[in-house]
Amino acid sequence: MAPLLEVKGISVHFGGLAAVGNVSFGIEPGERLALIGPNGAGKTTLFNVLTGQLKPSAGSVYFKGQDITRASVFARTHLGMARSFQITSLFPYQTVRVNALIALQGTRKGRYNVVRGLMGDKQMQAAVQGLLESTDLWELREEVVSSLAYGQQRKLEIALSLASDPELLLLDEPSCGLTTAESADITTRIRDLGSKITVLMIAHDMDLVFGVAERVMLLHYGQIACVGTCDEIRANPMVRDIYMGTRKTFGSNG
Ligand SMILES: Nc1ncnc2c1ncn2[C@@H]1O[C@H](COP(=O)(O)OP(=O)(O)O)[C@@H](O)[C@H]1O
Ligand SMILES: [Mg+2]
Repeated sequence: MAPLLEVKGISVHFGGLAAVGNVSFGIEPGERLALIGPNGAGKTTLFNVLTGQLKPSAGSVYFKGQDITRASVFARTHLGMARSFQITSLFPYQTVRVNALIALQGTRKGRYNVVRGLMGDKQMQAAVQGLLESTDLWELREEVVSSLAYGQQRKLEIALSLASDPELLLLDEPSCGLTTAESADITTRIRDLGSKITVLMIAHDMDLVFGVAERVMLLHYGQIACVGTCDEIRANPMVRDIYMGTRKTFGSNG
């Protein structure tokens, strides 16, 4: 099978620092790949290259066979890639429902008057309801985002990233800052997304990694130190060395 996403020789230099150094890998359709590594390993930098937030110093990224290395974030979304929203990209003084409307509207062709125009649009209302129900946020639809608990806001971020009906979902530390119970909930949700959605996820919470991933890739000093199944990663002494001094939660929250 052709890979859905193919990363070829990506390097990112910040001045003299090689934050990512010649990284290559592929993700098969339907696969769940976790990217792990200690703080400063280059995970977020690599992630930002994949989402289009950052142009690499060298290398190429292909999505469905198309070279998207220099494609805009919008073009990537249109092709079927989505990244998790971040709390900073939510509209804090709007309700959950309005945030869902705006996220859905951003993925649709044509221009609407964001709040007034869409509220009357039956199809859009149904899409909002579908999105919020499927992500278990329908009960919270009239809550103002800033009044939600942190864990609920993080859940909303992930929910909204599904608004564009993506084939590839990119998540950067989806359980960061969550309680154990909230993190377990996120784990179940990502696992239950179904095989139509391919997932690449940065995570430091090993319960999340082992609960979701089929394959794990360890980044160390900007390079892939090892790749394997969860069992292989668990048994790999190099992984233990790199994360020495910690037990269940590898790395830090960086
Ligand atoms: N915009 C930037 N400018 C300069 N250095 C950066 C920038 N972003 C990240 N870095 C550096 O690149 C390295 C990798 O960072 P990052 O990708 O955030 O790692 P991770 O997400 O694995 O913790 C770190 O040494 C970090 O300080
Ligand atoms: Mg990071």
